[in-house]
Amino acid sequence: MRTVFVNGKYVPEDEASISIFDRGFLFADGVYEVTSVLDGRLVDFDGHFTRLRRSLGELEMKMEMSRNELLAMHRALVEKNNLEEGLVYLQVTRGAADRDFAFPPEDTPGTIIAFTQDKTLIDAPSAKEGIKVITLEDLRWGRCDIKTVQLLYPSLASMEARKQGAKGAWLVRDGMVTEGTANNAYIVTKEGVIVTRDLSHEILSGITRKSVLECAKKLQMKVEERPFSVEEIADAAEAFTTAATIFVMPVIEVDGKAVGEGKPGPVAKKLREIYIKQSLDNAI
Ligand code: PDD
Repeated sequence: MRTVFVNGKYVPEDEASISIFDRGFLFADGVYEVTSVLDGRLVDFDGHFTRLRRSLGELEMKMEMSRNELLAMHRALVEKNNLEEGLVYLQVTRGAADRDFAFPPEDTPGTIIAFTQDKTLIDAPSAKEGIKVITLEDLRWGRCDIKTVQLLYPSLASMEARKQGAKGAWLVRDGMVTEGTANNAYIVTKEGVIVTRDLSHEILSGITRKSVLECAKKLQMKVEERPFSVEEIADAAEAFTTAATIFVMPVIEVDGKAVGEGKPGPVAKKLREIYIKQSLDNAI
């Protein structure tokens, strides 16, 4: 049984509880982060912490734990659960109060929970084979840059992908791909240019995206941050997605059509290799 963190306490998962009045539960009034763990250490903790602070700020939410306290808590969870490889999930909500659309009084304490999840990341079989995705209309709200727990549409999209024999969905607004349900989306053109949507309110600023684009630039690969269309995917040499849960994941088929040669391409493979190496070197 796992040990989880709830509002300052480490407890067995079956003893953990939060109020039924929690605004995270009633209004999806909360934000989250998912940090990967390799070799029992945290990958890009500060990137995730910085984005958490931004998400909280955009929603006028406060956070009772400092960077160092959060780091110590993440490390304690990893240790208590003997986690070698996997994830730490952290969620912060506006706390519990009588149900009202308006925010509760300033002094209402937020709810902070965290737990670990085992996951094979480096040797994930899907990374060798590549994954299939479908495209679906992006029906999410207009502030996808904030990492909120409001994930019903991505969840429905993910189920639709499964029904169609795919692993995930790429979301499309006005004919242009925004991002995946829980990852950022990329194509590599026949000329070898990596294309991924530019940052805006329409996508999440991925922590893995940032590191991977830095790796690509170091390797002298050309990167264009701009929207790309569904038609451009058909012409692409490769496609891939990135997230803390999958690192760099080759995409071999979109909407039933093979991308490039229909197998993981050299750019995705190289970026995955370098990203993992760099993460192992820098994890804390
Ligand atoms: N999702 N875009 C969306 C919509 C996401 O939900 C995520 C991450 C990303 C990639 O962000 P990062 O590289 O920082 O993980 C992009 C997490 C992993 C999740 O919901 O499980």
